[in-house]
Amino acid sequence: MANTIPALTLNDGTTIPQLGFGVFQVPPEDTLEAVTKALDVGYRHLDTAEMYGNEKGVGEAIRASGLPRDEIFVTSKLNNGFHEPDDARKAFDRTLADLDIGPLDLFLIHWPLPTRYDGDYVSTWKVLEEFKADGRTRSIGVSNFQPDHLAMLEKEAGVTPAVNQIEVHPYFTNEAARQASLERGILVEAWSPIAQGEVLDDPAVVEIARKVGRTPAQVVLRWHIERGDIVFPKSVTPSRIKENIDIFDFELSAEDVAAIGALNRNQRTGPDPDTFDAIG
Ligand SMILES: NC(=O)c1ccc[n+]([C@@H]2O[C@H](COP(=O)([O-])OP(=O)(O)OC[C@H]3O[C@@H](n4cnc5c(N)ncnc54)[C@H](OP(=O)(O)O)[C@@H]3O)[C@@H](O)[C@H]2O)c1
Repeated sequence: MANTIPALTLNDGTTIPQLGFGVFQVPPEDTLEAVTKALDVGYRHLDTAEMYGNEKGVGEAIRASGLPRDEIFVTSKLNNGFHEPDDARKAFDRTLADLDIGPLDLFLIHWPLPTRYDGDYVSTWKVLEEFKADGRTRSIGVSNFQPDHLAMLEKEAGVTPAVNQIEVHPYFTNEAARQASLERGILVEAWSPIAQGEVLDDPAVVEIARKVGRTPAQVVLRWHIERGDIVFPKSVTPSRIKENIDIFDFELSAEDVAAIGALNRNQRTGPDPDTFDAIG
């Protein structure tokens, strides 16, 4: 089996590497080093956000790598304080300036914030449609959108989101939001894919890892891949950055995929998108 990262086709015809590298909680001063390591070992998809404060480091690492820009898929996200259309336009300009790598591959609304902005994420989405139309991002999508938020966009939007980036891992399989995305042709990006490490000591995961001769993190990441979701585990530890990409030369049985899915406890590691309202 070739140890290569599959490319998935988004609903707008562009392609995305199914595995990438996430930089949430990577301190700005460590971002150049971590992303450089990730690119060195073969990651070609990076997931950042204005909220993470490290877009400059991500851009610096891309430029320093010498890799052709079109070989790296880059995602960023609109921060919560900038949903008003003019604020969103300025925030997007800042993201492009901080990354300084030309057009983006994917830009997302980071959180729907249904309790803010009079519950209006539709006018924010229409501004992202402008960014796609003017070519400054190839694709646009959403993050943390619940089924009713997707239904609202379906009714009001001109462009269907390419992805919905939501919390998914064995302790929180998030099936309702996952299925609401997939049935609309929206691919699922699973954030906190290893639940920030919490699922790695689970006896069922440890046992499957022992059986297939892999680490618990590799088994859980492989579980996401076999379910068709996109993942971008975060690590600042060089050995883990390498470990997390080495998951394309083995498979899990259908029974093991089902057993890991059965660990669901509806236990989030992050906030609930229906009530999350932090700005700043
Ligand atoms: N859209 C959203 O609202 C949202 C929310 C959260 C995350 N995300 C995205 O999803 C990405 C991943 O999620 P995440 O960063 O929350 O969590 P995660 O990738 O599930 O877990 C990261 C944590 O696990 C540790 N770790 C990584 N690989 C490991 C391994 N092989 N063995 C043991 N421990 C390991 C890391 O430690 P070290 O770094 O110390 O090695 C870090 O503490 C983020 O970076 C971000 O891009 C998006």
